[in-house]
Amino acid sequence: MVALMKALLLVYVCLSFAVFSLNGEGNCPQLKKVGCFKSIDEISKEKFLSKLALTDRPNIDWKNWNNYLRDLACKCAERVGEGNGEIRTFGLEFYGECWTSRNSPFKLETLKSEYASDNCYGPNFEKCNVSNSNEQCAGGADTIAVYQFGFCLFRPDGIYTDPNDCSGFLQCYNNQKLNFKCPTGKLYNVEKKYCDSPSNVNCSGRPTT
Ligand SMILES: *[C@@H]1O[C@H](CO)[C@@H](O)[C@H](O)[C@H]1NC(C)=O
Ligand SMILES: *[C@@H]1O[C@H](CO)[C@@H](O)[C@H](O)[C@H]1NC(C)=O
Repeated sequence: MVALMKALLLVYVCLSFAVFSLNGEGNCPQLKKVGCFKSIDEISKEKFLSKLALTDRPNIDWKNWNNYLRDLACKCAERVGEGNGEIRTFGLEFYGECWTSRNSPFKLETLKSEYASDNCYGPNFEKCNVSNSNEQCAGGADTIAVYQFGFCLFRPDGIYTDPNDCSGFLQCYNNQKLNFKCPTGKLYNVEKKYCDSPSNVNCSGRPTT
């Protein structure tokens, strides 16, 4: 069984570059706040997250900041996208800018504790509480609230059903997400943990692509 599984993995390995399933309203990936940091390395004078993914500053809704902030974090995650399945990193800077790294995955070690800042703001413009996972934060000037997200960030290594595809499955390995596709005509059987005839598989509403 294990050998068969390995053979299946080998033969049908297929890193998916598929679309990130964010369809606007209410469909935000689970985000992890890493912390609040100065956005520029004082020694190299370079930005830690150097790729501007989105600037939303003209649209900042100062009067509706709490909702704006939540949407900004989701929009930024959507823009950054899930890449090749690795953990993704982005930051919200200057109240309305979304920055990400040119090189992926971003090495969090770069953000040493000496770069920590308290110039990030959450709901009601209160100082950011990094350990409150229910609240988003954005950095002020030259400050960045750093986030991570990714399917395998919150999951241990193992095999998972693909919420977007019943004819495939996902594997988390070292925080990396790998997409696998069943052979043509087969669907992934969660209970038996292999690709099976469709008549034996309950997709529970998951689409078959
Ligand atoms: C920050 O959030 C955590 C988790 O919700 C909470 O336990 C803690 O009291 C908060 N700290 C402050 C200063 O509000
Ligand atoms: C499929 O699974 C769902 C929940 O996982 C269950 O509610 C449903 O009854 C199942 N359908 C069949 C045909 O077994």
